[in-house]
Amino acid sequence: MKRRIAIVNHKGGTCKTTTAVNLAAALAEQGKGVLLIDLDPQATATRWAGVGDGTPTAAHFILGDVRLPECAQASTLPGVQLIASSLKPLDDLENRLRSTIAGEKALEKAFKRDPVWEDYDYILIDCPPNIGRLSIAAMVAADEILVPVDARSPSLEAMTHLLGWISQDSSGEEIFNQGTYDTVREDLNADLGLCGILVCRCNERKRQERAVLEELRNDPRLGAFVFRTVIRENVDLSEAHGNREPITVYNPSSRGAEDYRALAAEVIAQEEEDGQG
Ligand SMILES: Nc1ncnc2c1ncn2[C@@H]1O[C@H](COP(=O)(O)OP(=O)(O)OP(=O)(O)O)[C@@H](O)[C@H]1O
Ligand SMILES: [Mg+2]
Repeated sequence: MKRRIAIVNHKGGTCKTTTAVNLAAALAEQGKGVLLIDLDPQATATRWAGVGDGTPTAAHFILGDVRLPECAQASTLPGVQLIASSLKPLDDLENRLRSTIAGEKALEKAFKRDPVWEDYDYILIDCPPNIGRLSIAAMVAADEILVPVDARSPSLEAMTHLLGWISQDSSGEEIFNQGTYDTVREDLNADLGLCGILVCRCNERKRQERAVLEELRNDPRLGAFVFRTVIRENVDLSEAHGNREPITVYNPSSRGAEDYRALAAEVIAQEEEDGQG
């Protein structure tokens, strides 16, 4: 089973990149073939993975200027190949996709053009903190989305904009308001699935953070999609970033390493649950 998973949340700083990098490394540690695509012009995952400017980027891959095997390069994350980001090419790409008919299908088309993507078991796509053309293109090309949320955030509003929310009309009747995920499924990628909602930076000793976790787990619509694994607050994760290493290498016995390994195991187990392993 080949899985392309876009890591998305409209909001900034919800641990998207930390999850993309460390889940990629933990999946590779389990023997999976992993490609990480950095689709964020901020290029945080690219720098984390030790890849500098001047290499072919996701923009080159998407526009067909450089084919996938030449775009995918070795990184400092053992077993993980990277398609890099860089500010200008990715910004230019986003502008171009905005003025191109069906620009949101550009990444999907790139995968069709280069079927060698199927050589990987997992393709993780790190998205920018907005729902612009790049994030939509990722959701159109992906098989699933994974949504990290920051447990310290007092509101889950950004997540509801992505996954939809229930409100009541004047007669008290419940109505469902579509999120971006539902709109993409309706109009652009009917097969897009929800890999899961991941609670990150959680300190379960703090009442408010426990409350966020409980609220999500008890949500009648989304509760079933919340990963059992919770990523605990762990400073080693930012230090690993500074060191250009995944947490599993920087500090293999840290809580961060334990949690991202547990997440990888949970993601892999979904393959068996689906009977497609
Ligand atoms: N479990 C954790 N414990 C402590 N710090 C964390 C944890 N996860 C992420 N961080 C820190 O939180 C900050 C935001 O994380 P990250 O860059 O992964 O978020 P992001 O959603 O990719 O941000 P952006 O929206 O800007 O792309 C970083 O400084 C990172 O080191
Ligand atoms: Mg990021």
